[in-house]
Amino acid sequence: MRRLLFGVLASLFAGGQLMAQAHVGQYEQADIAYGSTLYATYCVVCHGESGDLFPGVNLRSGVFRHAASDRDLRGILLDGIPGTTMVAGAYEDAELVALIAYLRNMDTEIGGVALGDATSGQALFAGKGDCGSCHRVAGQGPRFAPDLSDIGAIRSASVLSRALEDPHGSTLPMNRAVRVVTAEGTVINGRRLNEDTYSVQLIAEDERLLSLDKRDLREYTILTAWDLPSYDDVFSEEEVTDLLAYLRSLKGMN
Ligand code: HEC
Ligand code: HEC
Repeated sequence: MRRLLFGVLASLFAGGQLMAQAHVGQYEQADIAYGSTLYATYCVVCHGESGDLFPGVNLRSGVFRHAASDRDLRGILLDGIPGTTMVAGAYEDAELVALIAYLRNMDTEIGGVALGDATSGQALFAGKGDCGSCHRVAGQGPRFAPDLSDIGAIRSASVLSRALEDPHGSTLPMNRAVRVVTAEGTVINGRRLNEDTYSVQLIAEDERLLSLDKRDLREYTILTAWDLPSYDDVFSEEEVTDLLAYLRSLKGMN
C-alpha cells in the first residue's frame, strides 16, 4: 500500500516536471508569424498595429485586464467581452493557438526586446545565476522572494528586461520587503503580501505566513532596499536574452 502510494506520488511529481518543461519555449515561431497575419486581418482595425489604440488596453504589454492565462485569452477570443465592442469570433483551434502566441510575443515582435534560448536561460537560472536560491518556480524553491512561476504571463518582456537591470524598479508594491517589531520586541523581516488599514499579511524570512494586527506592532517599516545581486557583470548580453526567454516561458500551470 505504502509502495503504491509512493508510486502515485512519484508519477504525479514527474507529471508536474513535464508540465513545467512543456512551457519552455512554448510558442512556436511559426505560430507567432501566423498569428501576426491573423492579427493584421482581424484585430488591427480596432486595436491598431501596436495594440494600444484603446485607452487602458495595451495588448503589447503582456498585461491583460480581462485575462491572466492563455485559457482566459482563448475565452475572450471565442466569446468576446460582453458589454464592449470586443467581438466573439469563430476561430479554429490553430488560429487560436497562433493568435495567442502572437499576443504573448507582440512586445518582442514589434517592441524590440530580444529573446534568446529558453533552455539555456533555464540552465543559467539554476546554475550561474543561482536565482532559485531566492525564487520559487513550479513549486520548487523558497517563498521569500516573489514566486516566478507565472512571471511570463504577468510581465511583458520589456518589463522583465528592466527587472533584471533593476529588480526594485519593477516590483509590485505588494512585494516590498518589510521590517516589523512586535510589542514583545521580536524583529520580523519579510515580504508583504497584503495590507489594509488594520492588518498586514506577510511571509517571514523563515517562510511562515503571518497576519499581524498593526495596532499591536511597535514598528512597521517598508524597506526600499533589498540586498539584491547585480547581474551587470555576471551575465553577457546574450545570456541576459536567454534568461529573458526562460522567464517569458514561465506561465504557471494553466
Ligand atoms: C470591433 C473592435 C474589436 C475587434 C475587431 C477586436 N477587438 Fe479586442 N477588444 C476590443 C475592445 C473595445 C476591448 C476592450 C474591452 C474593455 O475592456 O473595455 C478589447 C479587448 C481585448 C482583449 C482584452 C484586453 C485586456 O486588457 O484584457 C484582448 C486580449 C483582445 N481584445 C484581443 C483581440 C484580438 C486578438 C482580436 C483579433 C482576433 C481582437 N481583439 C479584435 C475591440 C475589438
Ligand atoms: C538574494 C535573493 C535573490 C536572488 C539570488 C535573485 N533574486 Fe530576483 N528578486 C529578489 C527579491 C527579494 C525581489 C523583489 C524585489 C523588491 O521587493 O524590490 C526580486 C525580484 C525579481 C524580479 C521581479 C519580480 C516581479 O514581480 O516583477 C525578477 C524578474 C527577478 N527577481 C528575477 C531574478 C533572476 C532571473 C535571478 C537570477 C539571475 C534573480 N532574480 C536572483 C531576490 C532575489
